[in-house]
Amino acid sequence: MRKGIVIFNLKTYVQVNFNESLKILKEIESLNDERIYLSPPINSLDYLNIRKKKCQIISQNVDSIETGAFTGSTNLELLMKNKVDGTLINHSERRAEKQFVRKVCDYTKNTSFKTIICCENLREALEFQKYNPSYIAYEPRELIGSGISVSNAKPEIVKTFCSKIKNPLIGAGITSIQDVEKGIELGANGFLIASAFVKTKNKKKYAKQVLEILDTI
Ligand code: G3P
Repeated sequence: MRKGIVIFNLKTYVQVNFNESLKILKEIESLNDERIYLSPPINSLDYLNIRKKKCQIISQNVDSIETGAFTGSTNLELLMKNKVDGTLINHSERRAEKQFVRKVCDYTKNTSFKTIICCENLREALEFQKYNPSYIAYEPRELIGSGISVSNAKPEIVKTFCSKIKNPLIGAGITSIQDVEKGIELGANGFLIASAFVKTKNKKKYAKQVLEILDTI
């Protein structure tokens, strides 16, 4: 498997209703590339998951582990049974207890289910690294949705983060292809991109350009 990945987080933007999420999946699937991860709103997760071909479909969150009486929760065991490819955990918009994050990593150990833990600083990242997740993503909360890229606003922190973390991803404010290039220069193995991707008209072209930059890793 090639090294870099890109996660397009559709959050719960109004533009990504059920039909639009499916349209986005179809567009990016035409690139036929396993490095694209799509994280749709929970409402369309399973619908997209059974229609994926090469793309990885991941959950935006998980909040219970074993199946059982957990009304309203996004359940890890069910995600795995339904062959969802992985999950974000501890996103700034959905923080989790450290002990819970650890349990999710332990539960998915030795499986192909990918755990992508988000963190807001290096201290958290180093703590999470002990749990052996698939990826750790640095996303400074204040830059999320700002259009000011983490790779430009915090190059020193990104560089240190990428040098100390095994599979480092970065996200927050990433908009242009230059922001992605800069992230690679600083050592990132991949990106989380939300608002810029949702807003862009030609999603296939945008995704293709990101993949071309990932080729340079
Ligand atoms: O999960 C990715 C996200 O939080 C970054 O958001 O809108 O700054 O790309 P955005």
